[in-house]
Amino acid sequence: MMDLTPDRASLDPIEIASRDEISALQIERLKWSLGHAYQNVPHYKQAFDAAGVHPDDFQSLEDLAKYPFTVKQDLRDNYPFGMFAVPREQLARIHASSGTTGKPTVVGYTRNDVDMWANVVARSIRAAGTRPGDMVHVAYGYGLFTGGLGAHYGVEKLGCSVVPVSGGMTARQVTLIDDFKPTTIMVTPSYALSILDACREQGIDPRETSLQVGIFGAEPWTNAMREEIEQAFDMHAVDIYGLSEIIGPGVASECVETKDGPTIWEDHFYPEIINPETGAPVADGEMGELVFTSLSKEAFPIIRYRTRDLSCLLPGTARSMRRMQKITGRSDDMIILRGVNVFPTQIEEQLMNVPALAPHFQIELSRKGRMDEMTVHVEAAETGKGDQSPIAAAAAATAAADLVKRIKDVIGITTHVNVGQSGAVARSEGKAVRVVDNRQKD
Ligand code: DLL
Repeated sequence: MMDLTPDRASLDPIEIASRDEISALQIERLKWSLGHAYQNVPHYKQAFDAAGVHPDDFQSLEDLAKYPFTVKQDLRDNYPFGMFAVPREQLARIHASSGTTGKPTVVGYTRNDVDMWANVVARSIRAAGTRPGDMVHVAYGYGLFTGGLGAHYGVEKLGCSVVPVSGGMTARQVTLIDDFKPTTIMVTPSYALSILDACREQGIDPRETSLQVGIFGAEPWTNAMREEIEQAFDMHAVDIYGLSEIIGPGVASECVETKDGPTIWEDHFYPEIINPETGAPVADGEMGELVFTSLSKEAFPIIRYRTRDLSCLLPGTARSMRRMQKITGRSDDMIILRGVNVFPTQIEEQLMNVPALAPHFQIELSRKGRMDEMTVHVEAAETGKGDQSPIAAAAAATAAADLVKRIKDVIGITTHVNVGQSGAVARSEGKAVRVVDNRQKD
């Protein structure tokens, strides 16, 4: 893989500013953001008043801990536009979460917000090693989801050519990559695997494509998966993190020269890690729940938003801004199986150690009597036409036993592993559904 480290001269000055400069900017912007939210969003006025705090009480970064958290329910309670701090006419854009349970979460952007967002995504793409003039294939979904349009504006802002493919029509994704020759792809890691399979089906060697960089996010993925994807495509794979409530993709993004966890664009999003049970802030380096406060957003300022994503804050390396550890999971995704806490990423890590299995997986939870059971559905790697042959069946049984043992040894739980034929595990075109919980239905 080529060394794609960007020139330092091409970075925004704040990316390499001193910590003192960064803190000074954060304090100035936090003062503004707290005041803006308090004055223009009734929810924040009520919440601050109830907690006995006022924006004027904010003098130093430690003071932020005095302000109340914002949670998803607050957004639902103010559906659709109650959390906006500007008149509806000043919105340039609206996005919303899929809202599989209940009402979707609606977020809004002014023209300045869209511009700031494009800047942080451009910064993210540059950090990944992509340069102005490159072509970028965007396979994140376009629409109310922030992935497609968020990536799109960032690509344009960096001065690249954008191919707005969106998700789906996987065979065509491969044709477009083969014909247009983009250097960069932006896609969920799980959908990248579907594109990888489609490449092979079309007789195209993924290592021979023009792709040099993949910018993957919107769902958890492990370093083991990074290795798998980098090997398969012979390209750099970096992690981009974000959520609609904070802006969309581009809250934090990994630098290609270090690949050591996303650098948080701290000049626009102030991070904290809290103990999810007590709400108390924990020190940098300690694991907990990520909380973000927006520093410059106009339409939808957000104060101390509890993301439910689990991570820790780490010192800057390639940039002076702090990093977050690659997300291991959301507190919502944690499975408690017979008293043991398990995240799907832990299963992914073990699966990647079994070469006879493909990287696709889905976890099914069921209940037998009073016992919860977990079945990991996987596929044999590179199964050809001889799926049913006794040799393939024997190899599948060996691979299944191997995975069962690894999960037992490392995570400490007993699982069933079901090795299906190629295509047996549902493919994602966006965020993968990792867990199917059938426990209530039994
Ligand atoms: O997924 C924004 C995004 C689009 C990020 C494209 C990166 C690339 P939401 O749909 O609001 O927004 O979902 C946000 O997805 O709280 C995390 O749980 C998860 N997530 C996002 N990026 C990552 C990542 C977009 N890099 C939720 N690693 C977040 C792990 C991620 N989880």
